[in-house]
Amino acid sequence: MRVLVTGGAGYIGSHTLLELMAQGHEVCVLDNYSNATPEVLSRVRSLSNGVIHDYVGDVRDADKLDEVMQDFQPEAVIHFAGLKAVGESTEKPLYYYDVNVRGTLTLLHAMTKAGCKRIIFSSSATVYGEPVYLPYDEAHPTNPTSVYGRSKLIAEQILTDWTAATPDATAVLLRYFNPVGAHASAQLGEDPKDIPNNLMPFIAQVAVGKRDALQIFGGDYDTPDGTGQRDYIHVVDLARAHVAAIDYAETATGARPFNIGTGQPYSVRDMVAAFERACGKPIATKMAARRAGDIAAMQADSGRANTELGWTATHDLDAMTASTWAWQSKNPNGYEG
Ligand code: NAD
Ligand code: UD1
Repeated sequence: MRVLVTGGAGYIGSHTLLELMAQGHEVCVLDNYSNATPEVLSRVRSLSNGVIHDYVGDVRDADKLDEVMQDFQPEAVIHFAGLKAVGESTEKPLYYYDVNVRGTLTLLHAMTKAGCKRIIFSSSATVYGEPVYLPYDEAHPTNPTSVYGRSKLIAEQILTDWTAATPDATAVLLRYFNPVGAHASAQLGEDPKDIPNNLMPFIAQVAVGKRDALQIFGGDYDTPDGTGQRDYIHVVDLARAHVAAIDYAETATGARPFNIGTGQPYSVRDMVAAFERACGKPIATKMAARRAGDIAAMQADSGRANTELGWTATHDLDAMTASTWAWQSKNPNGYEG
């Protein structure tokens, strides 16, 4: 299929391009490089030996989208382009709604004009909010507690209403749990611009000597070791979920959410211990207060993705930490070298 990938130069997008091309899909990227560098696509091109059509532009730019739709004529769109920092979303709510909600709306207008009726959307487990029960399944109530989470839920609702009003349209809403890890080549990985907000890139920067110590946000949660538990998912498994979603969208219609996780919770201490195994040295930690807005634990029931998308995660925790270490140690300054 011809697949337009918005935000394709980003962390998850770049890994997904490789998996799409490996399955014979033709790809085109639209990215404004607000959180990426063109070096990413050079690396994806050399890893795949394949052709990537690419456009520099903003997903809120209707004229640019019309141009891309006319030139490339996509049969499906994977919509990664968006903002993802929870803390920043509270400080800049209008910016977050503009990019994440208006960006999705502008894209849908352009798709409708061009007759493209399949979209795979990057959503997040954060749409569920405080757990009523665990593991979360897709029927769990949605009650996001941040602007970021609400922007994702609003976009899901817009996509759902669009499919209801558009015959034969499909929206696959992928609710990612905690993406981590890097490509086996160590050429692609997560490259946060500032101080990492998330656990795994922070640990990796401690291991490589860029940060002194990891602060563990809370040791008094109601979990086996007192630290927060999450469902970490290898980025290559996540990328493959998008390929499975493209196959599903070929025949399915309507909007459907899918949890994408492993179902296996790991604590902060588990992650530190696994990273120490991967890099062969101790990771300095210090106990800190709980981070505002954090929950004790979360994990996915990904049964629906297993059955309906035919997708399952195959990478374990050691594969997640080993690939992160390989990427970080070979690219201590990310894509800058
Ligand atoms: P990322 O920042 O690495 O990738 C996003 C890409 O979109 C970047 O290349 C960026 O330059 C581009 N972009 C941003 N705004 C744009 C705009 N207005 N127009 C065009 N391009 C734009 O992030 P990621 O981790 O790869 O996440 C991809 C998507 O998945 C995002 O929508 C994010 O909200 C969602 N998501 C991410 C996580 C996570 O932990 N990484 C979890 C759940 C959901
Ligand atoms: C966070 C976002 C979530 C987003 C996800 C993307 C919040 C509240 N939630 O999830 O919306 O979809 O990132 O991956 O920001 N931790 C530390 N020290 C650190 C960093 C994290 O102890 O320096 C702990 C956290 O308290 C948590 C765990 O590590 O228990 C994972 O944190 P993180 O990687 O930030 O992910 P989430 O909080 O699950």
